[in-house]
Amino acid sequence: MPQACWCVEGHAAQPASTSRAVRLESFGGPEVLTVQDVPEPQAVDDRTAATLSIAGSTAAAALDVLHLGPQDTVLIGGAGGGVGVFAVQLARIAGARVIGTGSPSTAEYLRSLGAEPVVYGDGLAARVRDLDGGPVTAALDLHGTDTVHVARELGVPDSRICTIAAVVEGVPAANGANAAPDALDNIARLVASGQLRVPIAATSPVEDIRAAVELQASRHVRGKVVIDL
Ligand SMILES: NC(=O)c1ccc[n+]([C@@H]2O[C@H](COP(=O)([O-])OP(=O)(O)OC[C@H]3O[C@@H](n4cnc5c(N)ncnc54)[C@H](OP(=O)(O)O)[C@@H]3O)[C@@H](O)[C@H]2O)c1
Repeated sequence: MPQACWCVEGHAAQPASTSRAVRLESFGGPEVLTVQDVPEPQAVDDRTAATLSIAGSTAAAALDVLHLGPQDTVLIGGAGGGVGVFAVQLARIAGARVIGTGSPSTAEYLRSLGAEPVVYGDGLAARVRDLDGGPVTAALDLHGTDTVHVARELGVPDSRICTIAAVVEGVPAANGANAAPDALDNIARLVASGQLRVPIAATSPVEDIRAAVELQASRHVRGKVVIDL
């Protein structure tokens, strides 16, 4: 597990059917920049398409672990980030009620994605219990481990909790590489049909990739950061 892993995505003008996933990782030593060409879905604009292969696939893989349905209330920690925007909307499309954590200033934004906002930090379990609508049945921690611990406190079994940003013994972890083969196509279809939207928080020319990565690393970005290659 990398000590830090910041993903910004890029899109390349040529060839038209390709977008470029850019990933910067630091394992406590030198940073490693990986650039990978990935197929670009049809009928989705370039910048949006560029966000799907990493953030979209990661959210899809995590939701596959949880098997959400209309009977579920899922608590999503870090719901407004690049992965969160996909996870919230895909969970809503699956029929689940979604409670998403964020800072107080993110509440309206989370609502606009379909989540009931709740502020992260001390007292989260009590704030979730105070909401009307029944118990939490599943949880997805996109930020660290706090949501895992709160979900356990709320009685959610480990098998219905998933992490992407940290390892917690007994809790399934997911990453985009585990996404179903058709995950990208499904998300692209939802985007193209207007059922799922991808907020682009910022775009930068590739010359400014350092600033873009620093913005992403702030961990308060709403949606995705995209690099123009
Ligand atoms: N982005 C990608 O494409 C991608 C792909 C694969 C894996 N990952 C990994 O997945 C994780 C999530 O990445 P991300 O890009 O979705 O989001 P992120 O940039 O890591 O986090 C942003 C979100 O986290 C929230 N947040 C900040 N402090 C928090 C706290 N203490 N507790 C709960 N939430 C908090 C922020 O809300 P406020 O702004 O309201 O504070 C914001 O919505 C990271 O570990 C990343 O390395 C990311």
